[in-house]
Amino acid sequence: MTVTALPTPVLRVSDVTKSYHLRTPLATRLARGADDHSSLRALDGVDLHLRKGEILALVGESGSGKSTLAKILVGSATPSSGSVEYHGEPMPARRDRNDSRRIQMVFQDPYSSLNPRISVGSMLRELLVLHKVVPRSEVRAESIRLLNLVGLEEDALDAFPSQFSGGQRQRLAIARALAVRPDILIADEPVSALDVSVQATILDLFARLRRELGLSILFVAHNLAVVQHLSDRVAVMYLGRIVEVADTAELFANPRHPYTRALIDSIPRMTAGSVNEEFVLEGEPPSPFDVPRGCRFNPRCPYATDECRTIDPALAEFSAGHETACLRADDLDPFQAAPEHAAPEHATPDARSTTL
Ligand SMILES: Nc1ncnc2c1ncn2[C@@H]1O[C@H](COP(=O)(O)OP(=O)(O)OP(=O)(O)O)[C@@H](O)[C@H]1O
Ligand code: SF4
Ligand SMILES: [Mg+2]
Repeated sequence: MTVTALPTPVLRVSDVTKSYHLRTPLATRLARGADDHSSLRALDGVDLHLRKGEILALVGESGSGKSTLAKILVGSATPSSGSVEYHGEPMPARRDRNDSRRIQMVFQDPYSSLNPRISVGSMLRELLVLHKVVPRSEVRAESIRLLNLVGLEEDALDAFPSQFSGGQRQRLAIARALAVRPDILIADEPVSALDVSVQATILDLFARLRRELGLSILFVAHNLAVVQHLSDRVAVMYLGRIVEVADTAELFANPRHPYTRALIDSIPRMTAGSVNEEFVLEGEPPSPFDVPRGCRFNPRCPYATDECRTIDPALAEFSAGHETACLRADDLDPFQAAPEHAAPEHATPDARSTTL
């Protein structure tokens, strides 16, 4: 049998954790004793890789740790432990200008990420000169090329961010990220602040940029519907961990983690035949100050057993390219209604049927 080696991913994070320590007075901490919740673990052993030229979606509820991971990948936050590799080499804790240039971020709010007092032409010129992307004589032509790449015209050079619509501003933010010729884009909810009608045009732009420039893209979203037709693979995050990762089609057809099933079922359906019409996610996400013992999803999981309340499942291969962190991955039938779930004692009546 011939074994073909898989290409080295462009980015890989291994067992990454990130803790935040909140500043509470020593006296308060001593008084609280074992109940002290002055530190939280935003990421708790994250393993993930991004392949060359792919769009990988990172999806999960608010507070699951998506932005924290995105910040670690672009170097604006440092992990508490674990490693980040770029093309198989460890990424230094302190990145130089060249390291930073290769991985660029696109933020959710295009307006606050652009300086309102600087014209588009000046913004691009500053970057192109600082990073010596092209000779000074070619800066204007390069700026126009960047604008055209994101669907804007030359006359945008003299305008200021406030003169553009939300979608156009996000195009500008993308042009700015591309100015330094990165090979990886980390897009943190880049369409969440946009009107639904504009979202599709920006998603199309990401798809085209990947195709034309061969970019590798990590696309963060809290809604699976946004990435269903864009991403090659999906990683599902819950309370600081990746709990399922698979090719997009496989994930939608054969989810193996109950949380993924709930995310899929929360998508407003255009057609009949959802994975499970009955599966509504119960309860609020637990706080990262107080991660449940055993499987972190167990207080909300209709399939939880006693074992789930003691064993913390690791992300494990279910089938080729499909990994999940569920002890009952083999038992779950994605096309059957979920069993009745007794809400955990701490869930409030209002929280019993929270949809995502
Ligand atoms: N600088 C910080 N100090 C303390 N806690 C933080 C900090 N940044 C993030 N957190 C906490 O870490 C957890 C993960 O936050 P993060 O912003 O990564 O989540 P997210 O998945 O991006 O959420 P959202 O969908 O709302 O953007 C949250 O509980 C958040 O309150
Ligand atoms: S391990 Fe148990 S509690 Fe966790 S997702 Fe699987 S069935 Fe649910
Ligand atoms: Mg976020």
